[in-house]
Amino acid sequence: MNTIQPAVGIDALAFSGPRSYIDMVDLAEARGVDPLKFTQGLGQLQMAVASPCEDTVTMAVQAARAALHNFDIDPADIGTLVVGTETGVDHAKPVAVYVHEHLGLAANCRTFETKHACYGAMAGLTASADWIVSGRARGRKALIIASDIARYGLGSAGEPTQGAGAVAIVVSERPRLFDLALGCVGDYTRQVMDFWRPLYSKVAFADGHYSIDCYLEALSASIADAKAQSTDPESLDSERMAACLYHVPFVKMARKAHLRHLQTDRPGVGDSAFAESYDARVAPWLTLNAQVGNIYTGSLFLALIDFLRRIDTGSEGSEASLFAYGSGCGACFLVGRVSDGAAAWASNLDPAAHLDRRHRLSVDAYEQMTVAAESADANDAPALDPEQWQLGDGLFYLGTRDHKRVYSA
Ligand code: CAA
Repeated sequence: MNTIQPAVGIDALAFSGPRSYIDMVDLAEARGVDPLKFTQGLGQLQMAVASPCEDTVTMAVQAARAALHNFDIDPADIGTLVVGTETGVDHAKPVAVYVHEHLGLAANCRTFETKHACYGAMAGLTASADWIVSGRARGRKALIIASDIARYGLGSAGEPTQGAGAVAIVVSERPRLFDLALGCVGDYTRQVMDFWRPLYSKVAFADGHYSIDCYLEALSASIADAKAQSTDPESLDSERMAACLYHVPFVKMARKAHLRHLQTDRPGVGDSAFAESYDARVAPWLTLNAQVGNIYTGSLFLALIDFLRRIDTGSEGSEASLFAYGSGCGACFLVGRVSDGAAAWASNLDPAAHLDRRHRLSVDAYEQMTVAAESADANDAPALDPEQWQLGDGLFYLGTRDHKRVYSA
């Protein structure tokens, strides 16, 4: 393992997302598409759907509350808060400052939002880890929240790759879950028009097949950059990893990514060696992504949750690689190891109960929700009613009054 010195890593993780989802077979039938295209061709089984009352702020707060509560972390110990999002709720005011208020964080907690499509949270994570390593944290922890609603529009090619949700990540110098190796982080940036969302649009535009090419090129370049920094490049080899985790806009993308990863490590790798490696190192940790859909900047960390929720004491010390890709584009490749004692915390980060409580929407109800969400930010429109969408208890967005967003609690 490349040296992890000084120690820094992930101390807590939690996922929270919308209360509703649609089944991908229902969506395929409604769109006149062979369901196998969505379930096998893209690898998606379900897709989370955000109601007008569930926005980037409410999902971020709920994920963060779960991370702090389930890992017994005092909000007073948080010294940096970053929200990575492509789905900001204001051109100027950051989502993070709403979250800061709802969590009751200290006034001297520095707080900001990062935007770089699906790379925003990884940018926040590495910057926060650097903040801890620099000594500026003075023993405090960083809270990074990835929160997004992926919207491409009804009937679009991107529609089956939508989703919504937030992952909260606490980083500390005494990580209980996953130690980060910051000594050889591979970075990559290139200006490309593969996916973007103009200021006037609530839905993203994508040059879909080109975006896949951009993603794979960024993966090769990030791995090459990490290896160039390492004193022992073979220590980064995919075959040494217990898990290879990727940004997951749709599950099949992780398969394409792993093929490129293996080809980068060992050109000419055969089909059966690839299949064996994929089945062991990638496929087992994609079940949550298949249930939730694309959550943009949180997608990689949802796969990390899937990996860590199933570890046992025998897997402590095992290594995993992480690849983040944000269209536009920016990317990052790094490795880490499962922290000693992490198995004792595995059940604390499992979102299975949260996902089981979701209710299944008909395609008609999903379309109504989507249309309603498009006009939810109009100033002084009738107040939004969480009961209309059967949301139960929680923090909800109620509409915009006098040009200010209003939340339920
Ligand atoms: N049975 C089984 N499989 C089928 C099938 C059937 N009946 N019909 C089609 N398929 C397979 C295809 O063979 C294909 O698989 P391969 O890629 O392995 O060949 C897969 O289903 C998808 O089919 P198409 O490529 O024909 O699908 P499409 O043209 O409708 O679009 C898409 C797919 C480009 C991903 C589109 O959904 C899209 O534009 N999504 C948004 C952009 C995106 O997610 N980009 C990913 C990289 S960028 C990124 O990662 C950042 C981010 O989060 C946005």
